[in-house]
Amino acid sequence: MKFLVTAGPTREPLDPVRYLTNRSSGRMGYALAGAARHEGHEVILISGPTVLDVPPGVDFIPVETAQQMYEAVRDMLPGVDVAVLCAAVADYRPVVCAEQKMKKGAERMVLELEKTPDILGSMRDVFGFRGVLVGFAAETQNVLAYAREKLQRKQCDMVVANDVSRSDIGFDSRENEVLLVFPNREEALPKDTKEHIALHIVEHAANLLPRV
Ligand code: CTP
Repeated sequence: MKFLVTAGPTREPLDPVRYLTNRSSGRMGYALAGAARHEGHEVILISGPTVLDVPPGVDFIPVETAQQMYEAVRDMLPGVDVAVLCAAVADYRPVVCAEQKMKKGAERMVLELEKTPDILGSMRDVFGFRGVLVGFAAETQNVLAYAREKLQRKQCDMVVANDVSRSDIGFDSRENEVLLVFPNREEALPKDTKEHIALHIVEHAANLLPRV
């Protein structure tokens, strides 16, 4: 099977030396790409900037902004069986990016932001993707309810939800504890390394293929 994985944060530039970003190490996405390759799948990894090594045997497409990630996903999608969108995409970007470094001035400054393209939300209706679609939901409360709502709204086959208010898992951590949410059921994966969690997610996603 052919997997496409998005990972890491995006960077939305304000000027040549500054950007807005999201908190993400990229570890979960890189673990997913590595796990899918380990299981014998063909893998395209589209990633924002991270310090991680690209897993061997994976086709790697580095990007910086949400717009670049959107275009890379759209362009690489033909032939993909399973898309796992794990990237922490910035939801907003500065309306203008200054050509030169902005200099200090007034005591206060207002930044005008606009929405970035919603990659996960474009998969079905804009890109016409018919394969297995896996989204991620990082929540700080009502994890199951929000994940189930996201599953339906974004027309996913599975949403991987985690509680980012916990400091022992998730961000910057080597471990995670997630809830896999399917249209008719959910399954809690106990706390484990991101590599082990990734293997479970890849197996579940691959098993969904004949049904879509
Ligand atoms: N995502 C995406 N493109 C964006 C923003 C998010 O593809 N511009 C994807 C992420 O990769 C993740 C999922 O959407 O798989 C969840 O992102 P999140 O920001 O939590 O979801 P939203 O639907 O934007 O919901 P909300 O902001 O209401 O929590």
